[in-house]
Amino acid sequence: MSAVVELAGVTKEYPGGVAALRGVDLRVEEGELLAIVGPSGSGKSTLLHIIGTLDRPSEGSVAIAGHDVATLADRSLSALRARHIGFVFQAFHLVPGISARDNVAEGLLYSGLSRGERRARAADALDRVGLADRMRHRPHELSGGQKQRVAIARAVVGAPDLLLADEPTGALDSASGEAVMELLHDLNAEGATIAVITHDVEIAERLPRQVRIRDGQVVADTRATVGQGVLAG
Ligand SMILES: Nc1ncnc2c1ncn2[C@@H]1O[C@H](COP(=O)(O)OP(=O)(O)OP(=O)(O)O)[C@@H](O)[C@H]1O
Ligand SMILES: [Mg+2]
Repeated sequence: MSAVVELAGVTKEYPGGVAALRGVDLRVEEGELLAIVGPSGSGKSTLLHIIGTLDRPSEGSVAIAGHDVATLADRSLSALRARHIGFVFQAFHLVPGISARDNVAEGLLYSGLSRGERRARAADALDRVGLADRMRHRPHELSGGQKQRVAIARAVVGAPDLLLADEPTGALDSASGEAVMELLHDLNAEGATIAVITHDVEIAERLPRQVRIRDGQVVADTRATVGQGVLAG
């Protein structure tokens, strides 16, 4: 069986000569919950964009759910992304002025499902994240933590093979951040494969696997027992 994510020798050079990634190998198996952790500027977002097929590497290979990204034209890549990957961002990225339910239903836009079915599944997903009583609220009528839960519902409503979260608790107070991390743990326990990008070592250490990145390279890859510290690479 193929991995959900398989990166080999991935480099990324931005115009101007910044080597943001320098030879990254990374394999993520189905059902994993991992942190990609590193300081500001270490290449985390760059790595997320490449895993999420939003950007292509300068060198090296990227396979998502067994599909080699290099062989796909941009249109096929969008289709692959819509089918296999859900995104959660630090700043939520909800559509203003429409309800929580319609925001979640957006996650199924390219699914081929009818509008009614999309709305039904959106309601289920909101229920799943504990927001059954906030379906009709628009983003500005929700708290930060609730907005992030809507964003997570939108990301998982299509049952993607992989959920990518870039600093999902970065804009939240600690209690809301805690609730979001708990939700990610629950979704993982139900089978979701999840990668959380964070600069926060405390968050990272509470996840079953930590991939540490510094200056564009993986410097440690640790599967820790819950509650144990991470070994330095
Ligand atoms: N579009 C771009 N063009 C040129 N250089 C870039 C571009 N995007 C990022 N970089 C550079 O690549 C390096 C890695 O950036 P990246 O955004 O991946 O870091 P990060 O680990 O996500 O940081 P942070 O924690 O601050 O979000 C940085 O040195 C950054 O300045
Ligand atoms: Mg970043």
